[in-house]
Amino acid sequence: MTQDELKQAVAEAAVKYILPMLEDDTIVGVGTGSTANLFIDELAKYKNDFDGTVASSKASAERLNKHGIPVYELNGVGNIRVYVDGADESNEYLHLIKGGGAALTREKIVAACSEEFVCIADESKMVKVLGDFPLPVEVIPMARGYVARELVKLGGDPVYREGVITDNGNQILDVYNLDILNPAELEKSIDGIVGVVTNGLFAKRPADVLLLATKEGVKTLKR
Ligand code: 5RP
Repeated sequence: MTQDELKQAVAEAAVKYILPMLEDDTIVGVGTGSTANLFIDELAKYKNDFDGTVASSKASAERLNKHGIPVYELNGVGNIRVYVDGADESNEYLHLIKGGGAALTREKIVAACSEEFVCIADESKMVKVLGDFPLPVEVIPMARGYVARELVKLGGDPVYREGVITDNGNQILDVYNLDILNPAELEKSIDGIVGVVTNGLFAKRPADVLLLATKEGVKTLKR
């Protein structure tokens, strides 16, 4: 199976997983990226079976709108029943690295507001120790140099993601060579640097469920 076929399989599995949660008043949180896009396309088949969505990026909101799926502002909704999103890496505790698509801040906000976070990924994303994928950090533009110097003190090699402006008008530093043995502690330390909006570690609020597409089928991993 190709990686694209694995992503399609996990997108279908995610819709099957959330089907019992869909009722007239259900709000679904929707993530960002190529796997989330396939999820959106599958979810569209059931668009009359739930209320609507909250999107973690402008790109996902646009795709949802094209399918005729309602997209609400987060401040306008109460409970988000379930949030479905991809990841760049996951460890066995369902701590994640996210932000390859620069949507980490809105993704973290929607995840925080959701009753259940279902991560969808193909098996290439599963790792023993997080950090092979460079950790994205969203920064206020004027603080970029300062934040980069502080990240070096933490042992990382930050690289400015040139030409990328986030949906919040900020910039991204991708931090290479971090030894992420304690994801929750590092998440907190990086968030403590003045000028950091958020970082792509999802350890304080990990996924609750990981649907992992493998060549043997989609596996369900729980914390
Ligand atoms: C976007 C993300 C994505 O979930 C992550 O990059 C995975 O993307 P893909 O499904 O395309 O591999 O965090 O900010």
